[in-house]
Amino acid sequence: MSRAVVVGAGAREHALAWGLSKSVDVIVTPGNDGMRASGLTCVATSPLELEADLFVIGPDALLVEGLASELRAQGKTVFGPGIDGAQLEGSKAYMKEFLRAANVPTAAFGVVDNEEDASRFLSTMKPPYVVKTDGLAAGKGVLVTEDLDEAMGDVREKLSGAAFGDAGTTVVIEEGLVGVECSMFVLCDGTRCEPLIPSQDFKRVGDFNTGPNTGGMGALAPLSLMDDAMVDRVMTEIIAPTVKELQHRGIEYRGVFYAGVMLTKDGPKLLEYNVRFGDPETQVLIPLFDGDLYEALLATAKGDLRSTPSFKNEAAVTVVLAAQGYPGTPRGGDVISGLNDDGQLGLSDVVIFHAGTKRRADGTFVTGGGRVLNVSARGATLEDARRRAYEAASLITFEGRVMRNDIAVMPERSPRELQ
Ligand code: AMP
Ligand code: GLY
Repeated sequence: MSRAVVVGAGAREHALAWGLSKSVDVIVTPGNDGMRASGLTCVATSPLELEADLFVIGPDALLVEGLASELRAQGKTVFGPGIDGAQLEGSKAYMKEFLRAANVPTAAFGVVDNEEDASRFLSTMKPPYVVKTDGLAAGKGVLVTEDLDEAMGDVREKLSGAAFGDAGTTVVIEEGLVGVECSMFVLCDGTRCEPLIPSQDFKRVGDFNTGPNTGGMGALAPLSLMDDAMVDRVMTEIIAPTVKELQHRGIEYRGVFYAGVMLTKDGPKLLEYNVRFGDPETQVLIPLFDGDLYEALLATAKGDLRSTPSFKNEAAVTVVLAAQGYPGTPRGGDVISGLNDDGQLGLSDVVIFHAGTKRRADGTFVTGGGRVLNVSARGATLEDARRRAYEAASLITFEGRVMRNDIAVMPERSPRELQ
């Protein structure tokens, strides 16, 4: 039997490993206690010391550091871009300049490394203002505000290195786009691209998009607002010029584009690229994937993507349960009740994907990370999937549990309604 190695330790990697294990042997490195409980093999060995037919790299930081390049240098087959392609996520300044060169529709922007330039640039813009750290900041390095003083204050804090260290000392200032956000994942084998179904994540910690940004508190798919015609537009106006520009730069990109797209009244615009699967969107996409995930990822990794991935004609919703204190410093060690011995609930069409679950010697599950686990449910409709996800989530309790109650509740707004 073929073997796949999944690199990472979060719920996204659990979902990938779960999907792959339907057709091949899977090893996760390092994985986590919740995955292990569900029967997956998790090892602490470096991926560079493992042998497999396919390596799938989950986290952005590893791609940006060049893990895919190192594995390829060993002759391995890898899903995920090399250190060159990963720059699209590793540096927002690089990404924005790339998009300009490629003529991809995106927010107007400036890159600054001092207060004077920042102040001058901001004074030429209309609110809302968007201030971003250049480097990786776990989804937490972005401020969107109507208030110019707050924007300048944030620039100062980022430039000083106080907020995000070296990731922050170059700052990208952007025009604020208004519209509906969508996550579009597109497999790319270096030349050919195939879209997965559109999804949406919920980034703020509080109901109705209040409170600070997080890594993501829940997700839904498919996003019906993003119909086939809009997906075609994204492929033509955003993805195709991106691949052309990558080729122009001599970068062979084999993996997934995670295009954060804003559906504006002027059409789809790219907010950002990530160079790996999204978390928690993966936790709704994989349960809906209809076919052999291994074959799809292997074909992508081999530069041989010939078929369009297909998805069940259903909907999925995932709800994140986070530890007390998240997205600040989370508290660990709270006992989780409601899970079976295998870390699941034993309900059909519901899967628990673990991220920060730890297991004590006596078998008890406890919290051990910010986002602890995801409750993913499928249903005939989005409403159905949401109801099942929340019913299942109500069975899993721990002290200080942080959960949004409105995942997939907010009516999707049409871009035509936007002023
Ligand atoms: P990013 O890390 O670049 O995806 O930004 C995180 C979140 O900030 C996005 O998901 C958006 O909700 C918001 N955001 C980023 N850039 C913009 C922009 N130019 N206009 C409006 N919102 C934005
Ligand atoms: N869904 C947010 C992220 O993966 O960055």
